[in-house]
Amino acid sequence: MSEALANLLNETRQFPPPAELAANANVTAAAYDEAAGDRLAFWERQAGRLTWAQPWEQVLDWSNAPFAKWFTGGRLNVAYNCVDRHVEAGHGDKVAIHWEGEPGDTRTVTYADLHRLTCQAANALTELGVTAGDRVAIYLPMIPEAAVAMLACARIGATHSVVFGGFSADALTNRIQDASAKVVITADGGFRRGKPSALKPTVDEAVANCPSVEHVLVVRRTGEEVGWSAKDHWWHEAVENASPEHEAQPFDAEHPLFILYTSGTTARPKGILHTTGGYLTQASYTTHAVFDLKPETDVYWCTADIGWVTGHSYIVYGPLSNGATQIMYEGTPDTPHKGRFWEIVDKYKVSILYTAPTLIRTMMKWGEDVPAGYDLSSLRLLGSVGEPINPEAWIWYRQYVGRGELPVVDTWWQTETGAMMISPLPGVTEAKPGSAMAPLPGIAADVVDDQGESVPNGGGGYLVLTEPWPSMLRTIWGDDSRFLETYWSRFGAGANAGDKWVYFAGDGAKKDDDGHIWLLGRVDDVMLVSGHNISTTEVESALVSHPSVAEAAVVGATDPTTGQAIVAFAIPRGSAEISGDAGEQLIAELRNHVAKTLGPIAKPRQIMLVPELPKTRSGKIMRRLLRDVAENRSLGDVTTLQDSSVMDLISSGMGGGR
Ligand code: WT7
Repeated sequence: MSEALANLLNETRQFPPPAELAANANVTAAAYDEAAGDRLAFWERQAGRLTWAQPWEQVLDWSNAPFAKWFTGGRLNVAYNCVDRHVEAGHGDKVAIHWEGEPGDTRTVTYADLHRLTCQAANALTELGVTAGDRVAIYLPMIPEAAVAMLACARIGATHSVVFGGFSADALTNRIQDASAKVVITADGGFRRGKPSALKPTVDEAVANCPSVEHVLVVRRTGEEVGWSAKDHWWHEAVENASPEHEAQPFDAEHPLFILYTSGTTARPKGILHTTGGYLTQASYTTHAVFDLKPETDVYWCTADIGWVTGHSYIVYGPLSNGATQIMYEGTPDTPHKGRFWEIVDKYKVSILYTAPTLIRTMMKWGEDVPAGYDLSSLRLLGSVGEPINPEAWIWYRQYVGRGELPVVDTWWQTETGAMMISPLPGVTEAKPGSAMAPLPGIAADVVDDQGESVPNGGGGYLVLTEPWPSMLRTIWGDDSRFLETYWSRFGAGANAGDKWVYFAGDGAKKDDDGHIWLLGRVDDVMLVSGHNISTTEVESALVSHPSVAEAAVVGATDPTTGQAIVAFAIPRGSAEISGDAGEQLIAELRNHVAKTLGPIAKPRQIMLVPELPKTRSGKIMRRLLRDVAENRSLGDVTTLQDSSVMDLISSGMGGGR
């Protein structure tokens, strides 16, 4: 166990909710009792927070477990719930999005604006031949059109697949092909680190290999010149000239809303499928409960990108279904200066801030003087997501951003869970720094040992979810068997728990003496780099696709800022020149090659050129030993190693460096 994790488990401080927040909280301790009494009735009440065109007949149909159906027979429109109903209730002039471009340009989008734009985009997509059930890929920077594009798809029943703008042409191609997307919505580019960063050339490269794509809609953002083909249409022509009248049709509660790709333990990403009624119910309820969101007075800001599930559930669907006013920021936290985030909090009087541990640790590195330079007194609640937050970062966040007073909600969930699962409730929970605490009302989680037995308090093992939940993934797009194998075969039905289906999250966890849950990171071959899921296999495949690499092994090494960092070991091909400068050059080339193949987020921090890789007798790469090397530890047990001299060779090194 790393030193940071060991510290985390010695943490004993506890912080009760501020009295005023507790007294006015949207959700009180009673919610736990209600949900424990009748879980399905509890979720049924939360579904009732939405507007349904037709009520459901059954809350949960688990007859074909683990393929769940929630709110069967119910019909609703997601965009209607996120936009129209707020306008109909007289809140058309209310700001939905305060958008801040990286260069400092701004836009204010009211709910009436959002309604008009979404209707126009829905009409434009319909005009391009998109109908319910078709897939639309979205590859956009953080501009209001990203939310509009998602809502327009939801409005007409098209299933969106948002691909993070930092992904490469290959990654985009794979995702478009896997879902056979008919339309791609993109932009000329966005602003990043003070300059335009193009997106359209990447789409052009991808679309050339994607025969399913009939049309490409292009938002003009940077104004830079772009290549143009017969499939391309400008957004400002197609959408802004379309009719603003559009009547939203209701869709079945199980209609596919979106696919979002996440890394698995093989090189092929998994298309996580989410549907309509259950997803929106839980995204909406958790926004209300965990952020204690008061739409009349709060200004909410989630700093995630729309390309990740956090952006889906806590920028688009959760906040908008609750009628929130929120901030959307295009750029990086240190452009043009390191106080940019705090400047935004100050400027818009942000009251609820939701960000990631990697950002908090970066802010720590920059020093508390930076936030101290701004008025952050509007803040009343802080959230964290994406990876385990170490107590030091939790305390720093509370102290220097939260005036030493504000509650910090550490929210555990996954692309697969669709919405928050384990988190404090800000008006109820006495939070412990570094712990996600307890399953939310209506959620059942446990920590089990290798045999699938629940561990006693004080014990550690694997995090599992023991009852279905409304926003659970329904399957992996086009691959039911991978869905069964990845999530449902490790524990539960067929294994040790009789007929019970148990969802394996892939995370290690511990229960403390009070039974509170501490997340300890992934137990599979998925790395968490700045909170982003990247599979070791994916990076290994990218490396061996380079002509100078014979074999590669990749590990996630502890990193003070990014949580984990990618460290690669590569065996050069016999013909590759690696002595002296040539080795350094090859390393630089390989790092760029991975960035080009998978996207800049997957660029290894470090690559070591090695003559061999440590393998077990059965030929499995011993990543544990490589992690020891990557983290500069003395080597652990090498007894199962096929040839122990390999490790001497690696440690003495043929090449390496950052
Ligand atoms: C993995 C899921 C949830 C949206 C962003 C990431 C890790 C997430 C926490 C947390 C400890 C966390 C887990 C999980 N994770 N939140 N609060 N504490 N670990 O979504 O890319 O699907 O990654 O992120 O390891 O399995 P994702």
